[in-house]
Amino acid sequence: MTTATPREMLTEALGALGATLRHHRDLGFTALPLAGEYLLSPAEALRAQERALAGCRRCKLCEGRTTIVFGAGNPRADLVCIGEGPGADEDAQGLPFVGRAGQLLTKMLASVDIPRDEAYISNTVKCRPPGNRNPEADELAACAPFLAAQLAVIQPKVILSLGSVATQALLGTREAIGKLRGKVHPYGSAVLIPTFHPAFLLRNPGPEYRRMAWEDLKLAKREYDRRRTK
Ligand code: URA
Repeated sequence: MTTATPREMLTEALGALGATLRHHRDLGFTALPLAGEYLLSPAEALRAQERALAGCRRCKLCEGRTTIVFGAGNPRADLVCIGEGPGADEDAQGLPFVGRAGQLLTKMLASVDIPRDEAYISNTVKCRPPGNRNPEADELAACAPFLAAQLAVIQPKVILSLGSVATQALLGTREAIGKLRGKVHPYGSAVLIPTFHPAFLLRNPGPEYRRMAWEDLKLAKREYDRRRTK
């Protein structure tokens, strides 16, 4: 058996490419989707998604928002934190979890040795609900494909869902956060671990909720360490 030279290998590869293109032409294809996200790095794909959201008017939250808060953090994060929706500080700055709840989230992650910038942080809706009310079903539905697209690009190993709105939206359930937390929920190739929203913990500073949140964080960290080394 003779070994092909680089020139012969290139000739063969180009011949095969030509045959594939002719085959596609004969099938009726007139264009190839060369701009697909699969050709982009995670950072580029997220930037493309953010650009595609610019000026979004798919739901009524567009009327009161200042900024679309797409998400921020490590595009290759193994941990993604999902909150409910931007508040006033986030709406003003265009970044998720930058207010008091965000400061607590940073501390919560640090308490299990996860620097905030190692994670990616986003929300179920990308625009601030007026007066910080809960996002409504039609608003969650309008934004869901964008969160799904973010997760498809990042492919995290662990999702930490913050509070009942994010947890119920992601798991497609109406069950209370008190019942959903404390467990590892399968979520595609990842796992989802619900915990209390940091804003809820700020409003309810008693030791009971704090202890449960600490248990959730330890669970998330255990899954994070275990699944990262796989
Ligand atoms: N609360 C949220 O749910 N998300 C933010 O980004 C900030 C506060």
